Amino acid sequence: MGGAFWPLHGIRLRTGDLDLRVMTEGDLPTLVTLVPDDLQLNPHATTYAGLDARANRRAVVAQAYWRALGMWSPDDWALPFVVRSARSDDVLGVQWLEGPDWRADRTVDSSSWLVSAARGRGLGTQMRAAVLALAFGPLGARAAISSAVVDNAASLGVSRALGYRESHRSVLEHSGEPLQHVRLERAAWVHSGRAQGTTVTGVEPALPFFGLDTRE
Ligand SMILES: CC(C)(COP(=O)(O)OP(=O)(O)OC[C@H]1O[C@@H](n2cnc3c(N)ncnc32)[C@H](O)[C@@H]1OP(=O)(O)O)[C@@H](O)C(=O)NCCC(=O)NCCS
Repeated sequence: MGGAFWPLHGIRLRTGDLDLRVMTEGDLPTLVTLVPDDLQLNPHATTYAGLDARANRRAVVAQAYWRALGMWSPDDWALPFVVRSARSDDVLGVQWLEGPDWRADRTVDSSSWLVSAARGRGLGTQMRAAVLALAFGPLGARAAISSAVVDNAASLGVSRALGYRESHRSVLEHSGEPLQHVRLERAAWVHSGRAQGTTVTGVEPALPFFGLDTRE
């Protein structure tokens, strides 16, 4: 999709067990049926009074995709990947990589979900490592951050497994829940050797969309 005028869709990440391709509109019908009930969606997203909770969640998932494409800029971008099994090509989840102040701080954030049957087998760690290989590799990130409510042991476990360090806590505005922030520096990522597990392809034509020169 997009070809020469939207090369971001050509980026592909492969790990031992997973194949991550940039989300397309054609993925949405599958994703809205798979999105797990325990995933906290954007609390600031529009709520449609005439829709039930499930239909509202589906609309939020679809609008997050369109917003990401429509609002893209090298200063504030969000790239969603559909995560598939490398063996069966079944859709297992979604992994986002974001650069909310990218040209100023070269720092990426991330968020993700897996269908419940795919959890607890190291795949969450593998898919986060895949987007970090993109960020710290061809995109040249300086650091990665993440955050999760303190009782989200799986999300914080993924961060810990990849070498993120606890930075500070804040409180979620809409619910009052404590939020743990974590941070991974470039040097720690390089030292970990985790980049070896991911093959990154198709980035070169997309570099200008990240404010990067293809000749660098
Ligand atoms: C967060 C999520 C993507 C993690 O994926 P996962 O495949 O389950 O995680 P992994 O199997 O890679 O586990 C990563 C680490 O966390 C630990 N962990 C995983 N689930 C855990 C749980 N429920 N309780 C305690 N520790 C847990 C693992 O032991 C592992 O640590 P280790 O490497 O030291 O052994 C997945 O659990 C999920 O989809 N959760 C619901 C959505 C969500 O909360 N997303 C994050 C917020 S955006």
